[in-house]
Amino acid sequence: MIQLRLVKPSLLAPNVFSNFSPKPGTGFFLPPLIAKCKPKSQMSSYSTSSSSSSKLLFRQLFEKESSTYTYLLADISQPDRPALLIDPVDKTVDRDLNVIKELGLKLVYAMNTHVHADHVTGTGLIKSKVPGVKSIISKESGSKADLHVEHGDKVSFGDLFLEVRATPGHTLGCVTYVTGDGPDQPQPRMAFTGDALLIRGCGRTDFQGGSSTQLYKSVHSQIFTLPKDTLLYPAHDYRGFTVSTVGEEMQYNPRLTKDEETFKSIMENLNLSYPKMMDVAVPANMVCGMQDLHSKA
Ligand SMILES: [Fe+2]
Repeated sequence: MIQLRLVKPSLLAPNVFSNFSPKPGTGFFLPPLIAKCKPKSQMSSYSTSSSSSSKLLFRQLFEKESSTYTYLLADISQPDRPALLIDPVDKTVDRDLNVIKELGLKLVYAMNTHVHADHVTGTGLIKSKVPGVKSIISKESGSKADLHVEHGDKVSFGDLFLEVRATPGHTLGCVTYVTGDGPDQPQPRMAFTGDALLIRGCGRTDFQGGSSTQLYKSVHSQIFTLPKDTLLYPAHDYRGFTVSTVGEEMQYNPRLTKDEETFKSIMENLNLSYPKMMDVAVPANMVCGMQDLHSKA
């Protein structure tokens, strides 16, 4: 059965956000939180020597116009092979759903790491094509979704789960999804960082409630505290990188290895242009990418 569950606070790094209030109890199921509302493909497989990770099927998919990665995870030890997609893009929904069909998976969740400004999420389209799929985004994002998650929540699919870590700073509602901790979960762990931490970079902090101070704290307290062999999978890459590790970014990230003041200065002087998709993507993504579907209905 696939449900959102709380993760034990002891499994989480200390939270630096003053508005974080852990839910009472540990290990209890959360009732479903139904609210108003995730080219050529590049695919790579995940493999490890851990026997527990033989449960996990993993694919990294790429959308070339926005250089966005979409991640497919499934527990193939279960008869119904429950699956989820992280950060699907509207333009590649058919490709993604076709792979899911070919692999015999049952898509359960379509999730976003945050409200994207550079592409329209595929979650709304997926929901219209695959009845029963639930969209997930953070409560802090203010966006519509079927389920809203907060720091410390757990998203389960089969015997596997993702832990939700609040990593604001690129946007106010950014979260990082991290594979579970424990002998029955994949090793090394995997962190889907969205735009909070990119390979040798990070997301901009000059719009959507961004804050360089907050991003610095998020990365250092919630991502750099993970085991160093944790695999990092970002929402984007513009130079051809596909994966990094916590240890690698702690050593070589040109921004996050600096002290906080230097980091803030770097982020304030990026002089980036206004994202060309922003005025279309953000309003659509605030309603689960369903804006066009609603207006045509
Ligand atoms: Fe973003």
